[in-house]
Amino acid sequence: MTRVIRGQTLSFGVSPGEVRHEAKGAIVIGDDGCILWAGPASLLPQGFRPAPVDDYGDCIVMPGFVDAHIHFPQCRMLAAPGKDLLDWLSRFTFPEESRYADGGYAAAMAQLFLDRLAAHGTTSAMAFCSVHKACAEALFAAAVSRNMALVTGKTMMDRNAIPAVQDDPETGARESAELYRTWHGKGRLRYAVTPRFAVTSSEAQLRVSGELLQSLDGVLMQTHLSESPGEIALVRELFPSARDYTDVYDRFGLLGPHSFFAHGIHLSEAECARLSESGSTVVHCPTSNNFLGSGLMRMAYLREARRPVHVGLATDVGGGTTYSMLATLGETYKVQMLTGYKPSALELFRMATMGNAERLRLSDTGAIEVGWHADLVVLDPCATPVLASRHELSSSLEDVLFALMILGDDRAVRATYVAGRKLHERVTQ
Ligand code: GUN
Ligand code: ZN
Repeated sequence: MTRVIRGQTLSFGVSPGEVRHEAKGAIVIGDDGCILWAGPASLLPQGFRPAPVDDYGDCIVMPGFVDAHIHFPQCRMLAAPGKDLLDWLSRFTFPEESRYADGGYAAAMAQLFLDRLAAHGTTSAMAFCSVHKACAEALFAAAVSRNMALVTGKTMMDRNAIPAVQDDPETGARESAELYRTWHGKGRLRYAVTPRFAVTSSEAQLRVSGELLQSLDGVLMQTHLSESPGEIALVRELFPSARDYTDVYDRFGLLGPHSFFAHGIHLSEAECARLSESGSTVVHCPTSNNFLGSGLMRMAYLREARRPVHVGLATDVGGGTTYSMLATLGETYKVQMLTGYKPSALELFRMATMGNAERLRLSDTGAIEVGWHADLVVLDPCATPVLASRHELSSSLEDVLFALMILGDDRAVRATYVAGRKLHERVTQ
C-alpha cells in the first residue's frame, strides 16, 4: 500500500556538495517499496493525500546507513580483548567463526545480525561471512527475505588458522562460484569474492581470487590491508618478493574499482599511488582500529589530490565496538582530529550513505530519489536527555548532525525502513 512519511528530510546528491534538506518534508513510498515522490510536505500532490502517514515531526528522515565493512560471524563477539589483531584473531575470532559451519546456528544468527543492523539504522552492508558455505547461504537467505541490498561472500582462508576455519584454493573457488551463481543479482544481493587477508591465503588462493574477480560479471572483492604493525611484518615474511603489502594483492589482479580494502592505516606513498590509480577503495574502521590498538588512519593523507584514494566508512564489528554508524562517525571525527584533519558532520553523513553506496555500486540506495528503494532511517535529535539539552543550543543542520554523531547511537534511531518496510521501531518507556 502507498504510504507517506513525514519529517525533516535530508539527503545527499550525487555531487559531493549537494545537500537536500526540507524542515517539513514528505516522502511517498509505493507498493513496490520504491520512492514515488519526495519534496516539501506543502507540495505533496493531491493524489497522495489520502494515503496513510507515518509522521515523525521534527525527526530527521534520511537515507539508511551503509556499513562498508562488517563481519557477520563476529556478531556476538564484540569486546573480546586481544593484545593486537593477530592475537585477537587466533584467541577469540577463529573459534567463534568455526561455529558457523552449522547452518542452523548460522540461520539463527543471520536474523539476529540483520535485526541489529536495522536497530542501528543500517539498511545496507558489505559483510564478511565465515569460511563455511552454509554461513553465506544463511546470510543471503535472510537478507533476500528482507529485500535488503547486501554484499557478502564466503571467506577464503587456507593457512595460518585452526583447521575448522580453513578451506583450500579449489574448494574456496568452487564454493564462491556456486554462491555467486545462486545469489548474485537475486533481489538486491551482490556477491563479493572474499580472501580474508594475505596472512591466511596462500599464493594459490590469492591467484584464484583474482581469477574469480576477473571472470564473474559484476562481482566485488573485499579483504584487509595494512591494519597492524605485526600483521604487516608477517606479510613481509610470507611474501618476501613483494614490494609492499598492497603489491601482494596487486600481483594477483585484486586491485580495482570493485575492490575494498579494510583499514589501510600504514600505507606508503607508493601504495596510495597504486590504490588511487586502480580506483580501489580503502575502508576506514575507527572503532576497531582504536580497540585493537592498530593505529590512526589518515583520511586526508589518503585523499591527497595528486593521488586520491577513495575512502569508505565502516564499523568492522566484531573488531569494531559498535554496530552504530552514528557512533562510528563520531569516532571517525576523533581519529581524524588526532591526525590533524577536521571533517564536517555533513561530509561524514554523506560518506556513510551516498558515499559508501556509490563505491559499492548499490545504484538504488544511499539517497532519497524517485524510483530508488526507500531505505530510510529516522533519527531523533532529542532521543536522550543529553541530546535534548544539546539540541536546544544547535543553530544549524551541521550542528544538529554533529551532536548526533558525537552523542548518538541506537537510542537515536526512531525507525528504520528497508525497501519501504518498517523493520525497526524504537520502543520508548
Ligand atoms: N584481518 C583479517 N581478519 C580480520 C578480522 O576479522 N578483523 C579485523 N579487524 N582484521 C582482520
Ligand atoms: Zn574486518
